[in-house]
Amino acid sequence: MVNQPTGKKAIQTTLHVTATAPSNIALIKYWGKSDASLNWPANDSLSMTLSQAKTTTTANVQPDAKTPDAHRMAFKTTGAGTIPVRDLGKTTRYLEWLRNEVRPFGSAEGALDILTHNSFPSSCGIASSASGFAALTIAAAAAWTGTKNLDELHRLGITQDILSAWARRGSGSACRSIHGGFVHWVRGEAPTAQKVSAVFSPDHWPLADLIVLIDRGAKSISSTEGHARAFTSPLMNVRMAGLGERLKDAAQAIEMRDLERLGTIIESEAIEMHSVMMTSHPRTDYFSAPTIAFIRWLRESRAAGNLAAWFTLDAGPNPHVICRPQDAAAINAMILDKFPGSTTIHDQTGFGATLQTSQETSTRHQGDSDGY
Ligand code: PMV
Repeated sequence: MVNQPTGKKAIQTTLHVTATAPSNIALIKYWGKSDASLNWPANDSLSMTLSQAKTTTTANVQPDAKTPDAHRMAFKTTGAGTIPVRDLGKTTRYLEWLRNEVRPFGSAEGALDILTHNSFPSSCGIASSASGFAALTIAAAAAWTGTKNLDELHRLGITQDILSAWARRGSGSACRSIHGGFVHWVRGEAPTAQKVSAVFSPDHWPLADLIVLIDRGAKSISSTEGHARAFTSPLMNVRMAGLGERLKDAAQAIEMRDLERLGTIIESEAIEMHSVMMTSHPRTDYFSAPTIAFIRWLRESRAAGNLAAWFTLDAGPNPHVICRPQDAAAINAMILDKFPGSTTIHDQTGFGATLQTSQETSTRHQGDSDGY
């Protein structure tokens, strides 16, 4: 920050280092952990990175924080300004863990001012933890080490692999949001042997994802709680036994750009994960009648030859409809016609996380204080 006094005013130039990370939709799901504290998954997963649903996060080291862990965080919301986050517990614990990881690569001193913005509404059924923790990880590492872009971070030794492994500790699925296209998270034989990589680029096979907000009322159980319950389901061992083959099959379908084959796999996969959820103790229902009506309509319309689209579901009631980009507008219109109370978000295959620097010049009265 550079201050040039001009009488009672000061011209202030601030560098904003901003990380942007996309959300992702799992085609083969991560559900159940081998080690909860390390977010070591019970199985491999395969996801598609999105392009419209994303989190943008700016982090700056506070010049005047009372204690190093006095982080401040605020959410910028569309139309409603900036809201300070009151309960920073989980994020502060994560940032203090991250600080120790970042320190060997340079500096990791000071408390952070964090401003974050989701491109999607918070109650829309897209989990913000994947994009949120991926963006936070990059923004915090950049702020502490004083780096301005991903190349600089990589030159310090903070590689994509390391960023992904760090983001994973915030939220498991965040590790896949560092990368673009189709991403394979390999469980590994030990927590340290996990590997996350893009297996196909977004250009290999752009697909549309219509996220259908059909049920805003369903009660949500946190994914942390849901993961913990997974192994209480008698179906979990059966699921584990077949997942390796299913993932291989899905990767082949992506390689061949065979939508019918991929679609059939992802529907079975989503239903199987939800069967585990519904047979866990306590039982976890993430969807009810509106989602079932939607699935029935989609399958009947497909069988009648009216559309080429397949669904998947995350830990929530709102289906993701996967189809060819050239069919998306017509399918979207059919959905809105059939389910007039719903809204849709039109997303597609996207690229991985980025880090950019922008410069802001402002005139401030001396004595003004920072803060959201
Ligand atoms: O990253 P978490 O702990 O929110 O778990 C994500 C779980 C699912 O979204 C249901 C599946 C997945 O692989 O993303």
